Amino acid sequence: MIMKGKRGVVLGVANQRSIAWGITQSLLAQGADVAVTCLNEKNKQTLEKLLVDHPEVPIFECDVTKPETIESTFKGLEEKYGQIDFLVHCLAFADKSDLDGGFINTSLDGFNLANDISAYSLVSLSKAAEPIMSESGSIVALTYLGAEKIVTNYNVMGVAKAALECSVRYLANDLGVKGIRVNAISAGPIKTLAARGISNFSNMLKIQEKVAPLKRANTIDEVGDVAMFLCSDLSRGISAETMYVDGGFNAVGLGPVNAYNLD
Ligand SMILES: NC(=O)c1ccc[n+]([C@@H]2O[C@H](COP(=O)([O-])OP(=O)(O)OC[C@H]3O[C@@H](n4cnc5c(N)ncnc54)[C@H](O)[C@@H]3O)[C@@H](O)[C@H]2O)c1
Repeated sequence: MIMKGKRGVVLGVANQRSIAWGITQSLLAQGADVAVTCLNEKNKQTLEKLLVDHPEVPIFECDVTKPETIESTFKGLEEKYGQIDFLVHCLAFADKSDLDGGFINTSLDGFNLANDISAYSLVSLSKAAEPIMSESGSIVALTYLGAEKIVTNYNVMGVAKAALECSVRYLANDLGVKGIRVNAISAGPIKTLAARGISNFSNMLKIQEKVAPLKRANTIDEVGDVAMFLCSDLSRGISAETMYVDGGFNAVGLGPVNAYNLD
C-alpha cells in the first residue's frame, strides 16, 4: 500500500490495452485514489466497463485540444480531492499519414498537430495542475526511444517526443522549487491502439523480442509499476529524469546478427 493517501489523475486510458490502464491498475493496487479522463462519450463508456469494480474512480472528460475541458477537469479534481499528488500524462496523437514514409514530407499542420497534442499538452496540464498539487507532487509522462534515435516510421512523433522529454526537464526545473517532480518513462513497443498507427509496428515488436537484452516485449503492468514508483515517495529524489522500461533495448548498439533479415 505504497500509495495509500495519495490522490491523482491518469490521462489516456483508451481501452484495456492502454499503457495508462496498466498504470491505473498499479496505482489502485497500491491504495491510491485515482481519477481518470476520457476523450469523449464513447471512451467514457469503455472506461465505465473497465472500472466496473472501482465505482469510486471519477471520470472527467479531457480533450487537450479543448482548453475548457482541461479547466473543468482540474476544477473537478479540486472539488473531489482538494489537492492532488500525481498526474500521469499518457497520451499522444499524430496523423497516421505522418507515421509512414519520409519525415521530410511532414506538413506544418501535421507537425503542429502531433506536437500540440503529444508535447504541449504536458505544459498546459502541468500549469493547470500546479495550483492543486501537493508539495510532494509527481508528474509522469510517457515517451519512446524515437525521441533520441532514428526509428523508421516514427517520424513526427519522434520530434514530438523529443519536445516532450525536453519539456519534462524544463517543467522539473520550474516546479522543483515547490517540491514537485517531473519525470518521463521511455517504454519499449507495446501493442496498443496508438501503436497500431505506426507503419510496420509488428516488426518493431519482433526486433524488440530478438534484440533487447530481456528478449521480449514489455507489458503495461511493468510500465504501470514504474509509473507508480515515480508517483510514490520512494522516488522522492528523482526529477527531470527519463527512465527506460524497454528490457534494455536502448543500450544495444548492434543486436545478434541473426536478429536482422539481411537477405
Ligand atoms: N505503445 C507503445 O509502444 C508506446 C511506447 C512508448 C511510449 N508510448 C506512449 O504511451 C502513451 C500512451 O499510449 P498507448 O500506447 O497506451 O496508446 P493508447 O491508444 O491506448 O493511448 C493513447 C491515448 O491518447 C489519448 N488522446 C489522443 N488524443 C487526445 C486528446 N486530444 N486529448 C486527450 N487525450 C488524447 C487517447 O484517447 C488514448 O487514450 C503515449 O504517449 C504513447 O506515445 C507508447
